[in-house]
Amino acid sequence: MIMPATIIIGAQWGDEGKGRAVDWLAARADVVARYGGGDNAGHTVYVGDKVYKLHLMPSGILRPQAACILGNGMVVNPVNLLKELDELHALGVDVSPERVKISTKAHIITPAHRALDIASEKALGNKAIGTTLRGIGPAYLDKTGRRGIRMGEMLSIEDFAEAIKKSIETANHVLLKHDEPLLNVQEITEEYVNAAQKLRPYIVDTTHYINQRLREGAHILCEGAQGTLLDVDHGSYPFVTSSNPSTGGALIGLGFGPKYVGDVFGVTKAYCTRVGAGPMPTELFGDIANRLRGTGENFWDEYGTTTGRPRRCGWLDLVLLRYSADINGLTSLVITKLDILSGFDELNIAIAYDVDGVRMDYPPSTIPELERAKPIYETLPGWHDDISHVRRYDDLPTNAKQYLQRISEWCDLPISMISVGPERDQLIVMDEK
Ligand code: GDP
Ligand code: IMO
Ligand code: MG
Repeated sequence: MIMPATIIIGAQWGDEGKGRAVDWLAARADVVARYGGGDNAGHTVYVGDKVYKLHLMPSGILRPQAACILGNGMVVNPVNLLKELDELHALGVDVSPERVKISTKAHIITPAHRALDIASEKALGNKAIGTTLRGIGPAYLDKTGRRGIRMGEMLSIEDFAEAIKKSIETANHVLLKHDEPLLNVQEITEEYVNAAQKLRPYIVDTTHYINQRLREGAHILCEGAQGTLLDVDHGSYPFVTSSNPSTGGALIGLGFGPKYVGDVFGVTKAYCTRVGAGPMPTELFGDIANRLRGTGENFWDEYGTTTGRPRRCGWLDLVLLRYSADINGLTSLVITKLDILSGFDELNIAIAYDVDGVRMDYPPSTIPELERAKPIYETLPGWHDDISHVRRYDDLPTNAKQYLQRISEWCDLPISMISVGPERDQLIVMDEK
């Protein structure tokens, strides 16, 4: 039986190439739904000669037959959402309310959340998390603190204006204590009321919509943002985001049950990157890191889509990838950016850690231990051929195939897709080999 829901998640620290993988799978989806995070996400999709940078919209928006959902698990900055809708519209993408649906239960990010994010990072000094400063943490804090404002409140403009006004006033008390500049209550209220007028047609009960579509047998693709190792429960807390990017988050963040779930794709780069602070056992410095990162000339070089920050780079970490497979119940791996590894004589993959002289096959769950974890590497021969034109697994260099095979063996998972370049078609789809 073909299960109607597919989940696609980041198996590392985000930026694994989820957007391009979703774009591919969305060709056969009826609905593509984001279930968590906000505009801290940056998903780059390259189609033909156009590069799309999506932050709040599901990457399925580039496939005209797919309806797109912003689920209840998301935190939405309405002003930035309107900008994104306008940009996509200008590029000829249909972003009408017939296609795009925002959950009444998604929470709203205000300038107060952004100001509090900045203030909190400043106060942490050299212990800062390195957030994207988009107000994500403070917005989820208001959600769990039961004082958040939800998209559904936009449907009653007067009450909405009052709620925004109150929330900015409350934030100003906190900002005053932090010696931070105060926010203009009236200006923000007007801006948000204006945004509400425009967004109202998009706001619906997406939980009801999704369940109805699932019952009809529609194929729903759940698009993860961030990555498993940034999960507030399962990531390297506190160096995490404030949501659950892992599989469980998809069910909560959209409101349907596990009986519909079939495939769970875990997207991983062929190496590792991380933006922001926190442990990264296989991190490299110097020539190899610079080589993986690229110079920044190409849009796919390792500089954040949202913040432009250089990403930390390192060898592939199979200890964490196996952990990620457990947390998410992955059914297969999607391996991206294999082309970037062309040109190395040798490649390392971490297969275990040495923590204070003890070999560990599973990541330690405390930060100090994870910081002391020294990777134990298996070294594999590299390849020098340009693989960006390869479309069939069999046409890959032998050493590239061996590299992929080792990943698959160590994780005990099949590989379903391999990308060898950023463009939509630069992809090897395994069951089509
Ligand atoms: P996401 O947040 O997981 O969607 O990933 P991002 O879009 O933030 O980062 C991935 C970057 O790598 C983007 O610039 C993609 O265009 C690019 N990319 C994705 N797959 C490949 C690939 O196979 N090869 C190369 N060179 N670039 C890729
Ligand atoms: P996509 O969807 C990479 C990281 C930030 C920081 C931590 C907390 O493009 O993969 P936040 O602003 O969420 O409070 O920051 O999480 N982070 C990401 N890193 N890709 C992302 O999204 C990220 N979203 C958040 O860098 O370390
Ligand atoms: Mg990204």
